[in-house]
Amino acid sequence: MNLPKISFFDDPKSQLWIKEVVQMSDPIISGTLIKNSKKGVQKEVTYFIQDGRFANNKKYIDLQNVTLDKLKNYGFKLTRNRKSVELFAHNEQAQVVWYDYMKSFCIQRGFNNVYSINKLIGKGNFAKVYSAQKKSDQSLYAVKAFDKLKFQDIRIDKPALIKELSIMRKMDFRGVIKLHEVYENDNYIFLVCELLEGGELFNQMKGKAYDEKTVANIMYRILQSIDYIHSMGVLHRDIKPENLILRTKGDMADVVIADFGLADYYNPSGDYMFKRCGTPGYVAPELLQDKIYDFKVDIFSAGVLMFIMLTGASPFKAKSYDEIVMKNYHCQIEYSLINNHPLSEEAIHLLRALLEKNADLRISTELALQHQWFQKQADYQLHLEENLPRHKRNSDLYARTPLMGQELNQSLTSTPLSVTPQMRSKSNTADINREEPNGSTFRQQSQSVKVQKQECILEENDYNVNEDDDIPHSNQIKMYQIQPKLKKNQEDQQKYNVDNANSIRGSLKQAF
Ligand SMILES: Nc1ncnc2c1ncn2[C@@H]1O[C@H](COP(=O)(O)OP(=O)(O)O)[C@@H](O)[C@H]1O
Ligand SMILES: [Mg+2]
Repeated sequence: MNLPKISFFDDPKSQLWIKEVVQMSDPIISGTLIKNSKKGVQKEVTYFIQDGRFANNKKYIDLQNVTLDKLKNYGFKLTRNRKSVELFAHNEQAQVVWYDYMKSFCIQRGFNNVYSINKLIGKGNFAKVYSAQKKSDQSLYAVKAFDKLKFQDIRIDKPALIKELSIMRKMDFRGVIKLHEVYENDNYIFLVCELLEGGELFNQMKGKAYDEKTVANIMYRILQSIDYIHSMGVLHRDIKPENLILRTKGDMADVVIADFGLADYYNPSGDYMFKRCGTPGYVAPELLQDKIYDFKVDIFSAGVLMFIMLTGASPFKAKSYDEIVMKNYHCQIEYSLINNHPLSEEAIHLLRALLEKNADLRISTELALQHQWFQKQADYQLHLEENLPRHKRNSDLYARTPLMGQELNQSLTSTPLSVTPQMRSKSNTADINREEPNGSTFRQQSQSVKVQKQECILEENDYNVNEDDDIPHSNQIKMYQIQPKLKKNQEDQQKYNVDNANSIRGSLKQAF
């Protein structure tokens, strides 16, 4: 007999069927399916799908990342940990309907039968992105391919990918990347997404300062999309130019937030899979400072974007990476730069409200969207009408988040500072690996960094601490890359931190 293939998502701790009754209340589909019993007798049983579960009146399968195969005779097969169930619909139409609902939660096989890869269109830290064509109708998609061999630590990378998938599956908003389906073969995990053909936002901008109207239209869409993401209980945590992609060439305001690789569900106690993560130069200071943080981290990053678009330069003037980190950490924003640009009072007010160092005083997305600056820019209305009702339906969670409904902080900080070039490093040619056709050219991304809760990796040279209380401690750092180089009592402090780190590493090992 042919044993089902092992899946990347298999987990010996979870079973295929869970013997627990799911009360049918609001299923997305229900109906009878045919099951062949061991004795060869055909039985009709009523099944339904609700909250990502495929259930009958006795038990259910959690469909998230179960392998789904199509079978002959209108059938399909669900497999987890090499345990399978085969079920058959009454006709082809019913099979298609059941299958389509299931595939939005499941992992499919046979990617190469369905899609042909065209060319490499992007590369991030963890995956390569290709344009691909669906063979059946020639429609185009973007495929984010994760090379299984590149997962360095499966204990970290696997739950991280599972989380990315779980979050992406929930997203359904014009300004947020849409995941269509997921495939797996022996070498790769493929996330099939909408193809965004306009390129990364900053490829268009080329470091120039943009006029307020253009920026307002872009910012409105970005803030609206962040608001939507937050309304789903999710923090993106890596809002930056590389992760903002235009849907079509030239339409600057039709910008889409991509890359949920560092996203997580909001947790009031600050307990995240990667507590310290993001990209230096864009990340909120409270995250760098190891404080408990919330949705406001994304708002700060949006402020950095707005600053760059209006001035053509980063708000953190620095000659080195460490200096960027340091300025970012202390929120030392180069406001003098905006003097070179004839910006309106409203633009400056919103900019400062978004870049407010104190997260409690930082403006919420809701208030930012009502800001006078946007009201003075007529075009934003277009985007408002088109999108708002859909996500506002998610009112339950939205109402509970602590950020909504706060008063606008009128006080404006004025920190005197200087200027920085954009952080992105220059072009790099794609390497092409075994299953990858036609490489294309792309720029190297600024590095997103992530740190698993309590994990600590130290690197000589990069590891510097001082004795100030507000400097990150080693036991909370994997982000050695974003650790500022500091001065006094370095050796003593370093020794303390290394000892501390070793003990944590020891306890981590035990935990696994
Ligand atoms: N749906 C898409 N359409 C077009 N280009 C995309 C799409 N998704 C990603 N890209 C490109 O690929 C790059 C890497 O994708 P991303 O999801 O950010 O991966 P990583 O998590 O590795 O950073 C992006 O910066 C962007 O240029
Ligand atoms: Mg990215």
